[in-house]
Amino acid sequence: MALRRRPLLLLLLVFPMLRYQILAVELISTNVNPVVQEFQRVELSCIIASTKTADPRIEWKKIGNKETSYVYFKNKLQGDWAHRAQLLSRTSLVIYNVTRADKAVYRCEVAAHEDTRIGAEISINLTVHVKPVAPKCRVPQSVPVGKSATLHCQEKEGFPEPTYNWYRNSEMLPLDSKSSSKFQNSSFKVDTKTGLLVFSEVQKGDSGRYSCRAMNAVGDAWCDDMEMEVYDLNIAAIVGGILVVIGVLSLTTVGICCAYRKGLFVNNKQNGNSYKTPAKPDGVNYIRTDEEGDFRHKSSFVI
Ligand SMILES: *[C@@H]1O[C@H](CO)[C@@H](O)[C@H](O)[C@H]1NC(C)=O
Ligand SMILES: *[C@@H]1O[C@H](CO)[C@@H](O)[C@H](O)[C@H]1NC(C)=O
Ligand SMILES: *[C@@H]1O[C@H](CO)[C@@H](O)[C@H](O)[C@H]1NC(C)=O
Repeated sequence: MALRRRPLLLLLLVFPMLRYQILAVELISTNVNPVVQEFQRVELSCIIASTKTADPRIEWKKIGNKETSYVYFKNKLQGDWAHRAQLLSRTSLVIYNVTRADKAVYRCEVAAHEDTRIGAEISINLTVHVKPVAPKCRVPQSVPVGKSATLHCQEKEGFPEPTYNWYRNSEMLPLDSKSSSKFQNSSFKVDTKTGLLVFSEVQKGDSGRYSCRAMNAVGDAWCDDMEMEVYDLNIAAIVGGILVVIGVLSLTTVGICCAYRKGLFVNNKQNGNSYKTPAKPDGVNYIRTDEEGDFRHKSSFVI
């Protein structure tokens, strides 16, 4: 018997690989790429398929971009994981109320207790989806007909990155105005990736209340709708015309006013001059003319 066992022992020394295989821990996972919505529960599945040891050593690590930290170590959940997670069926890790900060690769490591060199590990890549929040929108208040205009919409919390749609008076705009007969008279394009709504030439019919919706796999959110007014250049001309009329009217009023004052002044002067009239016969005619003028002014004013 002893003789027979010797070759096997020798074999174990010569081929350590064989020994590893005999004592190997085998791990499997039902899902190595779990995707979970923020604030929900997720199970990082790590299952011992086979092991020769009755008392394996189990560890969970979070592999961050900068540092690796222990989640489960020395049979204990570390730090705040103690309040947020639990081990399920001995090796799987359940995280309650996942947050976006939990997005990472987690490594489940199981070793045979007697010899820590013998073990297995499995990496779980956890993806956390985040609902978009209300996007920030920028809409120009008023644009003249024929000019270009750009409306902005952006959201930065959502994951995966949201796509955008624009709405006018609660009606969704097509990505290209030319693609719809209803918007044939408009000239705009919507970029669902950048959230830009660009009008190359704003038309009167483009006035309205604009709002944008950011949407991803787990939710959507809107910005408050905002008014964009398109003013006609004809209206501008009318307004200009009105201003000119007002200007002319006020100038006329000022003119009448001055003339009236001048007239009064002339009246006084006339009274003063009447004493002098005998001395300067020429002045009589002059004053008479003025008097006539004054009279005309007065009469026109009355009319
Ligand atoms: C989940 O976590 C968030 C942020 O840490 C917290 O505000 C929220 O109250 C938690 N929800 C539950 C049900 O524990
Ligand atoms: C984890 O999964 C995401 C989404 O599938 C992928 O983009 C990323 O590269 C993966 N990370 C690793 C370390 O495998
Ligand atoms: C587009 O403009 C034309 C001419 O101004 C008008 O007759 C037509 O009704 C407009 N179409 C729409 C959809 O508003």
